[in-house]
Amino acid sequence: MTITIIGSGKVGASAALNCGLRELDDVLLLDIVQGLPQGEAMDINHHLSERGIDCYVQGSNDYHDMQGSDIVVLVAGIGRRPGMTRMDLLKTNTGIVGEVAQQIRQYANECILIVVTNPLDPMTFVALKQTGFRRNMVMGMGGLLDLSRFKSFISEVLEVSRTSINAMVIGEHGENMLPLIRFSSVAGIPLQEFLSDGQSGEILEKTKNVAAQVISTKGATTHAPGNAIATIAEAIIRDKKSVIPVSAFLDGEYGAHNMCIGVPAVIGSNGLDRIIELRLNDYEKKIFDKGVIDVKEAIESIGLN
Ligand SMILES: NC(=O)c1ccc[n+]([C@@H]2O[C@H](COP(=O)([O-])OP(=O)(O)OC[C@H]3O[C@@H](n4cnc5c(N)ncnc54)[C@H](O)[C@@H]3O)[C@@H](O)[C@H]2O)c1
Repeated sequence: MTITIIGSGKVGASAALNCGLRELDDVLLLDIVQGLPQGEAMDINHHLSERGIDCYVQGSNDYHDMQGSDIVVLVAGIGRRPGMTRMDLLKTNTGIVGEVAQQIRQYANECILIVVTNPLDPMTFVALKQTGFRRNMVMGMGGLLDLSRFKSFISEVLEVSRTSINAMVIGEHGENMLPLIRFSSVAGIPLQEFLSDGQSGEILEKTKNVAAQVISTKGATTHAPGNAIATIAEAIIRDKKSVIPVSAFLDGEYGAHNMCIGVPAVIGSNGLDRIIELRLNDYEKKIFDKGVIDVKEAIESIGLN
């Protein structure tokens, strides 16, 4: 088993380090920039060496090296600059993801594919279509990152340990993300018992906007997405059957068809085992459906519906 990460920039390199720290497997870092994946590999190996971890990271510019990989992370592409939305990346990254998907199909056609490139939901759809993979084999990482932010704000506002929080974020990884207060708890106690309406509104706004704040301060988000990728890879490698929000191809679930968007799913060695359907109330459904419409529009605009 090998994990290949295509795109060795900020998020790809962090994902490689996080996979290594969890001792998941050897990692291949790929990129079109000569020297970059090799340099990152050396740096990460030195970190792992000092920790006494026998997972090895290799860097390459040659797709042949990913032959037979069991897990592939697709994180190649341009990122947001301050003031941009994820959808602003649509055209450029559709080209990159389409091109990389052909290579994945050629060299790792039995892998489980984790898509990370933004705009996440349309790119997951592009990767699914261009690889021709079955829908259990392709998922997008976005909701889990949103969830890590949601949990961090809940913990901050309530002044309780992060370990006591259980929560869920679904919907578009973008303007219509849907943190679900109603399906979240502190040690099993419904979150609504703790929060005033004002506090809930504040947490929701912060969860939605904090990525832009990170980008406007340090230029990109790095460590939280790197960790979220490793969490999904771990669920697959260790067949954990973890319930994780991922961008999944919907075929009638949540009333949506022929598109990808964030939903809770059981993740294990077969990839996406099954989707969990939540009974959304009218308010939640409105936001979820707006996400579906926007993602479908994006997919249509690139001619892929
Ligand atoms: N889904 C999420 O939650 C999430 C979170 C953070 C970032 N992202 C997205 O991930 C992507 C990467 O972000 P980053 O900050 O690591 O960017 P980055 O610019 O640091 O790295 C991107 C890398 O992709 C490489 N690349 C471009 N085209 C390629 C190709 N055809 N084959 C192989 N490599 C190629 C580039 O050379 C570069 O090294 C962006 O689209 C960003 O928006 C998604």
